[in-house]
Amino acid sequence: MQTLNPDRLPRHLAVIMDGNGRWAKQRMLRRIVGHQRGVETVRLIVEECSNLGIGYLTLYAFSSENWLRPKSEVSALMLLLKKYIRSEIPRMMKNNIRFNVIGDRSELPPDVERELTDALNQTAANSGMILTLALSYGSRQEIVRAARQLAGDMVAGRITPDKVDEQLFASYLFTADIPDPDLLIRTSGEMRISNFLLWQLAYTELYFCDVNWPDFGKEELYRAIHDYQARERRYGKTSDQLQKRS
Ligand code: FPP
Repeated sequence: MQTLNPDRLPRHLAVIMDGNGRWAKQRMLRRIVGHQRGVETVRLIVEECSNLGIGYLTLYAFSSENWLRPKSEVSALMLLLKKYIRSEIPRMMKNNIRFNVIGDRSELPPDVERELTDALNQTAANSGMILTLALSYGSRQEIVRAARQLAGDMVAGRITPDKVDEQLFASYLFTADIPDPDLLIRTSGEMRISNFLLWQLAYTELYFCDVNWPDFGKEELYRAIHDYQARERRYGKTSDQLQKRS
């Protein structure tokens, strides 16, 4: 297992959890079994990140495009989600985790929405890691929604065009209260962003690994963070400029 520098942990880790279906197929199992195993990985990674002292963990659990999957898979995923949220509340309380959701919640079934509201309320006062689930989330949709709300505020005279800058625009996104991710992990060998946090990932370090999400464990997590810690983040500047600053 890699040793990590506790002073250089990513403050915000985002994950595209991919490969549940392939994991199942390789074992001649139904796709939903892959998702069930995926939930076990979610539990493990949430606990590890919280123990490490990571401030924000954001997981892409269901995309806007995932609604196009077969109805049976969508309802199985919604059921898994409902059960996961309900069963996780005690653990979130124990670990001082605050739960958060981003995405178009109006699309979610009412019973899932109820569980979400419950988890949000119960964990609202926790001061440890912020666990955000991206549900029914699509980044282009998020940006369009932000533009629409901004335009509404402008028409209503609450803001003028000269006030619009990056900071103001970002305050209309679902992630208004969350810093941009420092590290994005995507599992299963795919090298795409898939409509996830397009605005927020502008300067994020990207890490792709071949293992499917159900097989992603503590060792893989440490390897990804170790890799991140060896990188130099320049935000457009030169290495020399960065060294002079420190
Ligand atoms: C990708 O696997 C994964 C998803 C569609 C969503 C992730 C869902 C879970 C881990 C389970 C539910 C989550 C929570 C938080 C309870 P895929 O089906 O796209 O895999 P494939 O590309 O191999 O088909």
